[in-house]
Amino acid sequence: MKTLKIASMLAASVALPLTASATELEVTHWWTSGGEAAAVAELAKAFDASGDKWIDGAIAGGGGTARPIMISRITGGDPMGATQFNHGQQALELVEAGLMLDLTDVAEANNWKDIVYPPSLLDACTVDGKIYCAPVNIHSPEWLWLSNKVYEDLGIPVPTNWNEFVASAPQVDAAGKIPLALGNQPWQSNLAFGAMQIAVAGLDAWKAVNVDKNMDVAAGAEYAAVFQAAADARELARKSTVQDWNQATNLVITDQAAGQIMGDWAQGEFQVAGEVAGKDYTCLLGLGLNEYISTGGDAFYFPKLDDPEKEAAQKRLAAQLVSPEVQVAFNLKKGSLPIRGDIDLAAANDCMKKGLEVLAGGNIVPSGDMNWSPDVQKQNEDLMVEFWKSDMSPADAHAKWVENLKSGL
Ligand code: BGC
Repeated sequence: MKTLKIASMLAASVALPLTASATELEVTHWWTSGGEAAAVAELAKAFDASGDKWIDGAIAGGGGTARPIMISRITGGDPMGATQFNHGQQALELVEAGLMLDLTDVAEANNWKDIVYPPSLLDACTVDGKIYCAPVNIHSPEWLWLSNKVYEDLGIPVPTNWNEFVASAPQVDAAGKIPLALGNQPWQSNLAFGAMQIAVAGLDAWKAVNVDKNMDVAAGAEYAAVFQAAADARELARKSTVQDWNQATNLVITDQAAGQIMGDWAQGEFQVAGEVAGKDYTCLLGLGLNEYISTGGDAFYFPKLDDPEKEAAQKRLAAQLVSPEVQVAFNLKKGSLPIRGDIDLAAANDCMKKGLEVLAGGNIVPSGDMNWSPDVQKQNEDLMVEFWKSDMSPADAHAKWVENLKSGL
């Protein structure tokens, strides 16, 4: 604790501006749900407290809507001071086009190579040996969130894994509840499918496909089982008509739905609603079948602005985002895990503790954004939309999915 305090004081003094006037930076992101807004407010508060000015540029509609807007502003000559992307390949073309600020000096001055854990997070920010982003969190998408009350009312135990969840669904349905809450935006069904990959196919098959790009395994039996699980999930989600992910989470919070497959950012919503992990809701990592965390998440990138004063503020913000005190304040509200292992998260709830434990144990895999290009991911999102909204057979969807992956090799 003592070390943390001293480190915080040092970081705060380093962050103090050299001039009295605040430098304004517009920061774009897609954090607009209750929990997300509470978390991003911590970043803004810290930046303002250190003498600069955060101009909030929230873009509603989720990452799928926000990213094209962010990218076209940067390529179209109207860059913001900083912007969220998922760390991985989303900003790669912008970096390669020379549009983004090189943060290598900030990273070196603040020892990012030694403190950022797992190192893959910094690797995902690195292009040709230079560092272009400041990672702020680890978000893992493969969780099943359950309403305890739905099961208490039915007089049956809360499921401990996906198979039990599917088996209990007819009772949930008969009680007039929605077995599986799912929002309509394309990325959400894609995320659910991604969670099923590790849970159902298992780690070896997952790695063979996503890391080694083995297309025989992709076309094989383990993945046929994943598509069958997705077809089951499609049935369970038939009664879910909401659009946004947080509306779907709200169905679980208000006990209208039994469960939702969603990233750990859902925790922010449960928290804002005053719900307690373990008491009001249950979280099952790897859908309770295979406890792995894929280490995706968020990072901030800084477009080149050709303005030395702004550039200095961009670098101050980059350093601050990685600092211990901002990491604690932000991640506790966001429901994500910090990108450094040297800080105290004693206040974490049971679900975050589970995530921290799995992270420390090293059961981690790279995220989809790190494994596949935005193009392949977009094709798979489109496929998932079609699959979840039609009666497309699991076998047909499976064949098309393998084709999509092959297009990215
Ligand atoms: C981001 C999260 C965010 C979620 C839903 C993900 O892409 O990594 O930070 O909470 O989208 O908006």
